Amino acid sequence: MDYYKQIFKRKSFHIFKDTDTLTGDEIKKLKDFIKTVKPLNGEIKTEICIVPETETTCKRGGQYCILFYSETKDEYLRNIGYMGEQIDLYLASQDIGALWFGIGKPKNMQVNGLDYVIMISIAKMPVDKFRKDMFKSKRKPLSEIWNGNTLGIAEIVRFTPSACNTQPWIVENSGCDLTVYRFKKPGKRGIMPADKVRYYNKIDMGIFLFMLETCLEHENYKYDRTLFADTSDDSIEQTLIAKYNHLSK
Ligand SMILES: Cc1cc2nc3c(=O)[nH]c(=O)nc-3n(C[C@H](O)[C@H](O)[C@H](O)COP(=O)(O)O)c2cc1C
Repeated sequence: MDYYKQIFKRKSFHIFKDTDTLTGDEIKKLKDFIKTVKPLNGEIKTEICIVPETETTCKRGGQYCILFYSETKDEYLRNIGYMGEQIDLYLASQDIGALWFGIGKPKNMQVNGLDYVIMISIAKMPVDKFRKDMFKSKRKPLSEIWNGNTLGIAEIVRFTPSACNTQPWIVENSGCDLTVYRFKKPGKRGIMPADKVRYYNKIDMGIFLFMLETCLEHENYKYDRTLFADTSDDSIEQTLIAKYNHLSK
C-alpha cells in the first residue's frame, strides 16, 4: 500500500452524493486489508466491524460504517486513530470515500466485551470526487504546528485530518529528534465540551503519528520511536506524546 500517495487524494465526504455501490468483492478486500492493519500497541484488544450505515446514527448517505471497538486501557484512543488512518488511506486508494464520524453511535455499544470508540462511514465514489489539490485545504499555518527544519515532511503532514479540524499537534525538530506534543489552547472553548475534545484529540494524535511515520518513511528517514502516556488533564498546553530519535537517512 502506497499510503503516502493517498494523503493527497483523501478527503472527508461530509455528505455522500452521486455514490456508486460497493460490491461484495470490494467489502471482502476491505476486510482482508483490515486484518493487515498495524496497531501502535498490540497489547490492546480491538475489533473492527462493518455494518450498514442505517444501523448507526450516521445519516450522511454512506453505504456502510466501519465500527471500531477496543479495550479501554492505556492509550487506546491513540491506538484506534493510528489503525483507522491506515484504513482511511486504503479506502482512498480503492475510490471508496470515507468520513471519520465522531458523533455517531452504533446499535451495539459493545462487541465481545470491547467498547465502541468511533466509526468511519464509507461509500464507493467516482474518482473525480476525491481531493484534487490538497494544498488548498484549510489548515493552521506551518509555523503554528512545527518548530525547526521541516524536512519536507511538515509541509505534507499538516494535512492530517482531525475532529472539527482542530489539528491538536505540535512538532519540535531539534536537528536529530522530533518531539510530538498534543496541544490544547488553555481556556479556549469551542462548541464541544472539554472532555469530548480531549477524547477526539487523543484519536487525532494517533492519526497524526501514522501520517508522520508515513512521511518520514517516504523521505527515507530511519528513527527510533518512543511513545509517552497521554495523561494530561489539559491544564497544561502541551502534552508529550512521542519522540522520534536518531533521525537518519
Ligand atoms: C477523529 C475524527 C472525528 C471526526 N468527526 C466528524 C464528525 O462527527 N462529523 C463530521 O462531519 N466530520 C467529522 N470529522 C471530519 C473532520 O471534520 C475533517 O477530517 C477535517 O475537517 C479535515 O478535513 P479533511 O478530512 O477533508 O481533510 C472527524 C475527523 C476525525 C479525524
